[in-house]
Amino acid sequence: MDEKIKKIMAYETVALDDERGELVLIDQTKLPGAFELLSLRRQEDIHRAIYRLQVRGAPAIGVAAAIGLYIAALDIDADDFEGFYAKFKAARDYLASARPTAVNLFWALDRMERVALGSRGETVARIRELLHDEAVRIRDEDVWVCRSIGEYGLSLIKDGDGILTHCNAGQLATVKYGTALAPIHLGREKGYNFRVFTDETRPLLQGARLSALEMQADGVDATVICDNMASQVMKNGWVQAVFVGCDRVAANGDSCNKIGTSGVAILAKYYGVPFYVCAPTSTIDMTMPCGEDIPIEERPPEEVTEMWYRERMAPLGVKVYNPAFDFADNELITAIVTEYGIASPPYAETLKKIFAEKEKFA
Ligand code: MRU
Repeated sequence: MDEKIKKIMAYETVALDDERGELVLIDQTKLPGAFELLSLRRQEDIHRAIYRLQVRGAPAIGVAAAIGLYIAALDIDADDFEGFYAKFKAARDYLASARPTAVNLFWALDRMERVALGSRGETVARIRELLHDEAVRIRDEDVWVCRSIGEYGLSLIKDGDGILTHCNAGQLATVKYGTALAPIHLGREKGYNFRVFTDETRPLLQGARLSALEMQADGVDATVICDNMASQVMKNGWVQAVFVGCDRVAANGDSCNKIGTSGVAILAKYYGVPFYVCAPTSTIDMTMPCGEDIPIEERPPEEVTEMWYRERMAPLGVKVYNPAFDFADNELITAIVTEYGIASPPYAETLKKIFAEKEKFA
């Protein structure tokens, strides 16, 4: 493995270069073959990086958008608040259009917008400072939130367990640690050895390319399986727990995550394996009553038929359905692990308690 790639865990997935006023990202479309950092300033490039999954994973998207919007503010030319806010709002709406499902994108942009709206009467220079501080806060919070989820998640498993995960909800999907993979990284700090099965995660292969790399880089025993092998692996008795991340959790606990997650949840229920969803509260959307209400991104057919193949692998003209996400019904979920504790069914009640707990720290 390339030395730089081995050190991937030492890098933050999303960062702000304060001196240059640039968003710095690990380009995830190049992994695991090459480690390349992107430094972005233009809004079109930041939007494209989110859309193309150069930065991906709900928390990382949120942090990138917050930093991106701060950078937009640096380039806004205006003398008064009204002039500033009109351009700021246009930049906010533009970034918000990059992807529809991960609620962290809107959550982070809304936090930035609230800061801007609360700064009426301040100079433009001062508004920029306040936006800078909020973007840095969103980034810093992500680190402790993920660590806390990791600690709660680790309390659910024991050394030597087999863990199955889908997509990448690891450090590469956040600033540090990850959500679903945080318990494994924290376990490594304590010297635990887990056996991790990473679903390849068609069509963009976040499991095979990113989770597998992240596990290897942290010295974890990792095995890539095709998505259709999860049943066999569970039947073999190799999986003691499933950990997945999420892009949006509805108020009733239905949890939307990378396409294929609902199938894994159904298998886990069948084989009696606990199915845990790791969710920062920034990913829980109490305005969505249930999973059916969550907007599901559909992506281009070429991701299914052409990407990763030397030649197009499906007949020209055939119809393709390429939803990027699905949701696991709440009844399939053993627990939802947040930074403020572990919620168990019935989620309509316990998620409210998690937010009440959060309020105490506000
Ligand atoms: O399309 P992606 O790669 O952004 O999808 C990512 C996922 O589905 C993750 O599991 C989810 O965002 C949680 S990341 C901590």
